[in-house]
Amino acid sequence: MKAIQVGLMGLGTVGGGVFEVLRRNQEEITRRAGRGIQLTMVSRRDVAKAQALVGEHATVVADAREIIANPAIDIVVELIGGTGIARELVLEAIAAGKHVVTANKALLAVHGTEIFAAARARGVMVAFEAAVAGGIPIIKALREGLTANRIEWVVGIINGTTNFILSEMRAKGLDFDVVLKEAQRLGYAEADPTFDIEGVDAAHKATIMSAIAFGVPVQFDKAYVEGITKLNAADIRYAEQLGYRIKLLGITKRRSGAVEGIELRVHPTLVPAKRLIANVEGAMNAVVVQGDAVGSTLYYGKGAGAEPTASSVIADLVDITRLHTADPDHRVPHLAFQPGALQDTRILSIDEVVTAFYLRLQVKDQAGVLARITAILAESDISIDALLQRESAEGEAQTDVIILTHDTVEGRMNKAIAQMQALPTVLAPIVRIRKEELS
Ligand code: NDP
Ligand code: HSE
Repeated sequence: MKAIQVGLMGLGTVGGGVFEVLRRNQEEITRRAGRGIQLTMVSRRDVAKAQALVGEHATVVADAREIIANPAIDIVVELIGGTGIARELVLEAIAAGKHVVTANKALLAVHGTEIFAAARARGVMVAFEAAVAGGIPIIKALREGLTANRIEWVVGIINGTTNFILSEMRAKGLDFDVVLKEAQRLGYAEADPTFDIEGVDAAHKATIMSAIAFGVPVQFDKAYVEGITKLNAADIRYAEQLGYRIKLLGITKRRSGAVEGIELRVHPTLVPAKRLIANVEGAMNAVVVQGDAVGSTLYYGKGAGAEPTASSVIADLVDITRLHTADPDHRVPHLAFQPGALQDTRILSIDEVVTAFYLRLQVKDQAGVLARITAILAESDISIDALLQRESAEGEAQTDVIILTHDTVEGRMNKAIAQMQALPTVLAPIVRIRKEELS
């Protein structure tokens, strides 16, 4: 059978990986797909660089629209990134009847609803395994492998840059700014690392997983996003003394009971040090999925890099190659649930989220201070789980009090923090980090 024809838009880190892995493993991939997968056209604006990489193997063009206009191309792979030109090109490719593969989490988290609707109307597939956790096949697991389950929650370390920074902060006792500079010097963090360190990249990925886990539209604008820029080495140290590690987690949970909805949030989180996910170090990614039938499952691997990400892009190419002649109604739905069965379950605001907390209060070291603080928590119906006070040095008039609470509603905790903050014996802004037991 004639090989399926692929056009690649964007030949940078991931595009280069796709070209290389397709070339190297061509025979194995063909045996799996049932026919060849041939990269016949590539585009990047710097044509000379692209030409130097692909040589005679593919036609190089500067204008990606030439790929879309080529009737011989069956699948278009978008590896440009961002939500500007990438959105235009993906929608144009769909309109031209091409199947699309993309690694672009920002695009899908923000414009997924529009893109999936266009693809459905045109009867083409949009595949995006590489958009979440790079080389880990978490989309496949959520969408197909766990399809029997009512998913209860999904929690992941889904940004390698921030996990590298947090690992280094813990291992070397350094502050955020120092480690960020080191990460940039080593090439782990980009020159502009804003999306990574502010939690936006993780929130894009959590948004996509939330939609697939619970059968709701992608709604990045409703996600709560907090990065790691304000994290202090002291809190990592105190957390460790209490048996916890701090990780930037993407969390999405189904909530039922008095308040129904979906939690969708990214923030630094204390996790018990004994949990496997707490021991995921460096730039590695991991996702834990809790399903009612299967229980807890863990997926671990490289969340970025040329070949790990190419592994997922090519898996999508194989899927499309196998399925593109199938009746569109019989394909796996983009968001795991049939389009007509998506629900408009509310995404809860951060005030409604239920979680436990780590609090650090810098206080005057004098009689009655702790009693007043614990009284405020008791009056707020917030139960204390653990408490630690740093022994003050000789002659020191202040100290740190660390409190771990049991689960409570965030809005209630905000009010209690405001009351504690107003005490004249509380000397600095109270540090608050959310805590998840993941049991
Ligand atoms: P790069 O910046 O390395 O590559 C982007 C490529 O797009 C470059 O080759 C650039 O070349 C090309 N490009 C830019 N504008 C155009 C255009 N208008 N037409 C054609 N080509 C264009 O990005 P990555 O490979 O790192 O990332 C690609 C996508 O994969 C992004 O969505 C990213 O979020 C995602 N991703 C990346 C991972 C990684 O490890 N890097 C992991 C998981 C997902 P030129 O400037 O010459 O045009
Ligand atoms: N910037 C991302 C990370 C790349 O650090 O994980 C993969 O999406």
